[in-house]
Amino acid sequence: MKNLVILISGRGSNMVAIAEACAAEGWDARIAAVISNRIDAQGLVYAQRNGIPTAVVNHRDFEDREAFDAALAQVIDGFEPDLVVLAGFMRILTPGFVQHYSGRMLNIHPSLLPAFPGLHTHRRAIEAGCKVAGTTVHVVTPELDHGPIVAQAVVQVRPDDTEDTLAARVLVMEHRLYPRALRWWIEGVLEVTVDGRVVHLGGEPQQLIGG
Ligand code: GRF
Repeated sequence: MKNLVILISGRGSNMVAIAEACAAEGWDARIAAVISNRIDAQGLVYAQRNGIPTAVVNHRDFEDREAFDAALAQVIDGFEPDLVVLAGFMRILTPGFVQHYSGRMLNIHPSLLPAFPGLHTHRRAIEAGCKVAGTTVHVVTPELDHGPIVAQAVVQVRPDDTEDTLAARVLVMEHRLYPRALRWWIEGVLEVTVDGRVVHLGGEPQQLIGG
């Protein structure tokens, strides 16, 4: 049984999608903890109501990123994670922290990486005139929103889309994509190749959904 520790900063809808898929599909895994850097993160309420241990490590209590990340890692490691799952965790992580969880930390980003790393992805996609947008699950490496791509989901950008309407459609895909990618990870059917791509060992073609 694999221990997942999920890090959130806010709403936590991806965390909920993961917890529900884990229960419904009977993954060989459990959500060992949901940890937030914000006490008011809405997702903590869901976790508490569903008997998932929670913790808060407030970044404002620390002098610098290194001190915060050290404290955060200590709390995470207390839950003996096999995998650390970033799900809307809005902090830039130090190289030391990323190195500590090397090969066992995933993130979901609301764009088709390597396009639009960072913030305001939907606005930037619309402004760039993109005809497709989407979301990416990737292995976390020290460079922000980079790292081997595990899976992507695509949606069409409609002519009348606003940042909010596009974000809402992408979010629906995120809730399908992240549980799927995590399940693969737990089942051990993914491998990072020497050139840094993530491949599905079973030849499963569904590393892209939508489109
Ligand atoms: C998602 O769009 C995710 O891709 C991004 O932050 C958002 C988090 O949403 N990293 P939620 O907290 O999971 O609802």
